[in-house]
Amino acid sequence: MIVLVANEKGGVGKTSVAVNLAALAASDGVRTLLLDTDPNGSTTGWLATRGEVTPPPAEIFTLMLTTNAARMVADQAGHYELVIVDAGAAAWDTLLSVSRQADLVVVPVTPGQFEVDSTNRVFDSLRAMDVKHIRGKVPAYALLNQIPTNAKSKEESELRGFLANDCGIPVLTTVLRNRKAWRECSKAGLGIHEMPASQADAKSAAEIRALYVELAAIAAADAQLTQE
Ligand SMILES: Nc1ncnc2c1ncn2[C@@H]1O[C@H](COP(=O)(O)OP(=O)(O)OP(=O)(O)O)[C@@H](O)[C@H]1O
Ligand SMILES: [Mg+2]
Repeated sequence: MIVLVANEKGGVGKTSVAVNLAALAASDGVRTLLLDTDPNGSTTGWLATRGEVTPPPAEIFTLMLTTNAARMVADQAGHYELVIVDAGAAAWDTLLSVSRQADLVVVPVTPGQFEVDSTNRVFDSLRAMDVKHIRGKVPAYALLNQIPTNAKSKEESELRGFLANDCGIPVLTTVLRNRKAWRECSKAGLGIHEMPASQADAKSAAEIRALYVELAAIAAADAQLTQE
């Protein structure tokens, strides 16, 4: 299965989501390849830190990226149960070419006009790729990230409503809230669920697990439709 995590906007959580999904899958015994196509190298840096952790956490595989990421993804998909690709704005060609093969495209978005505008542009471009996708539709979903923990905040409902109703963008049910654990795990080279007890955050761990389960359910339903 190929999961592309992408947005043209910086800082919306692409790397955080990609590495956490990979760490969770690896912990579940899924043979996982994580590809960093963003020249900023954040995913690669996280993997390097992870390689120094003792005792070693669950293994996530990585490869040196050639210029043709889409080709590499196609070549590797048969060797791994899960291939996760982190693609930023600087890797726009990769974003589009990998979207043609992706079983799922996750587009993290945080509250903010610039982030919403970027997300809209990404979905416009992905819709243009529908004809090139094997199922005739790029299975892309927005993921609300860095949503305030304050229960009274209206940011989640406003952002969800705008993206879904005004822009016609499918939005995942799972929401990731703004919590320190996300910053801590990126420093540690670990997934949130792997953090030592002193830094553990059960709420964030539950959110990333919920995302993983939601994505698996969508992929399973799509695979069934393809078989019918
Ligand atoms: N839900 C969250 N709560 C708190 N902090 C978060 C959350 N998600 C991400 N962050 C933090 O926000 C910052 C940006 O996240 P991240 O690097 O994953 O985004 P990105 O889209 O990959 O950015 P870039 O475009 O620069 O590669 C990081 O410091 C990360 O730890
Ligand atoms: Mg990044």
